[in-house]
Amino acid sequence: MKNVRIGVIGLGNMGSVHARNILENKVPGLQLTAVADIVAAKAALFPEIRFFPTFRKMIASGTVDAVVIATPHFPHTPIGIAALKAGLHVLVEKPISVHKLDAERLIASHTNPKQVFAVMFNQRTDPYYIAIREMVRGGALGPIRRINWIITNWFRSFAYYASGSWRATWQGEGGGVLLNQCPHNLDLFTWIFGRPQRVRAFCSYGRYHDIEVEDDVTAYMEYADGTTATFVTSTGEAPGTNRLEVTAENGRLVMENDRLIFTENEVPMSEYSRASKDGYTLPKTTEKVIPVSGHGGQHVAVLQNFAEAILEGKPLIAPAAEGLNSVELTNAMLLSAAKNRTIELPLDGARYKTWLRRKIAESKPKPVPVTASVVSDFSKSFNT
Ligand SMILES: NC(=O)c1ccc[n+]([C@@H]2O[C@H](COP(=O)([O-])OP(=O)(O)OC[C@H]3O[C@@H](n4cnc5c(N)ncnc54)[C@H](O)[C@@H]3O)[C@@H](O)[C@H]2O)c1
Repeated sequence: MKNVRIGVIGLGNMGSVHARNILENKVPGLQLTAVADIVAAKAALFPEIRFFPTFRKMIASGTVDAVVIATPHFPHTPIGIAALKAGLHVLVEKPISVHKLDAERLIASHTNPKQVFAVMFNQRTDPYYIAIREMVRGGALGPIRRINWIITNWFRSFAYYASGSWRATWQGEGGGVLLNQCPHNLDLFTWIFGRPQRVRAFCSYGRYHDIEVEDDVTAYMEYADGTTATFVTSTGEAPGTNRLEVTAENGRLVMENDRLIFTENEVPMSEYSRASKDGYTLPKTTEKVIPVSGHGGQHVAVLQNFAEAILEGKPLIAPAAEGLNSVELTNAMLLSAAKNRTIELPLDGARYKTWLRRKIAESKPKPVPVTASVVSDFSKSFNT
């Protein structure tokens, strides 16, 4: 295969960017041969490319070897399963699914290792997170004691929430900031630090916007080795912060304002504490600025990696199966806040699905002036 013939499903904000990137030859090895959207008018966005009114028609058409799924969240699961069953390579947008059982169902349908199945975790290409991961996993920091991530620079205005009726509803989106913005951060969190053992979260629903889902979250997590973590996020704060601080035996690593600084202890902190002859003096430290520049290739880099995985067998930046981690953590946070208690991981996926189903049935989405997109019936996602 010289070029992978690819189709983009869902031509909204993100899907049309993916389609344009491919069409403008920014991704060698990918050739855009089809697009699909349930809104017929979207055909006009890419008049030179064959348009399909349903993903099923595109999949059955023989015009594509691979698809990018960029629809609202619930359809990721049924579309992904149908595409994989048809023998296609699949790149699915985040989150891979709304809830853990759907994610497991989607991942289980990937049975042919020759088919490439990836997820669009573009932030994994950011050199800051790559450097932090290497320092954490490579042992430069020593044992980790505490992780604090304040990621409140996901500001979204009322107009954003009004731009699609699926947005910020239990029925259409399955959650709020945790389901839409934070799959990236919670993926990076588990990619760098691994999965915590238990989660306690507090969510505010519609704290800053006229929406029924969470737009503000504070979570506390514990790892099996005693490491503790906090994760704070919001779509209402301005100006927000993106500060990741890792406290470890060998010192403190801080990422903030496009700087990554390691303040290294001369002696690991617990060792120093045991050996110290006075009660107050801190260990000597050296400040090291970790050289990092730019934010990586992001979406185009993930598309490129997808093409190279298909054509050359290159390892994936983000295999779709790893998308389960952030879905599970998201679900655990939402359940913890709703039940007002700590949730142990692994999460009971069936329990979460029951809770979410009830949430969807009981919820009365606040009316928002819809300026684009449509509401689809995603309830089929629950027919498992
Ligand atoms: N990776 C990123 O940085 C990033 C950024 C933004 C959005 N996203 C993700 O991209 C996805 C889409 O988000 P968006 O902001 O583009 O939404 P959007 O509402 O702008 O676009 C969704 C599009 O999908 C179409 N659609 C809905 N159901 C469909 C179906 N069954 N078949 C075909 N088309 C269908 C809609 O008509 C619409 O055109 C979401 O999963 C979102 O989380 C990812």
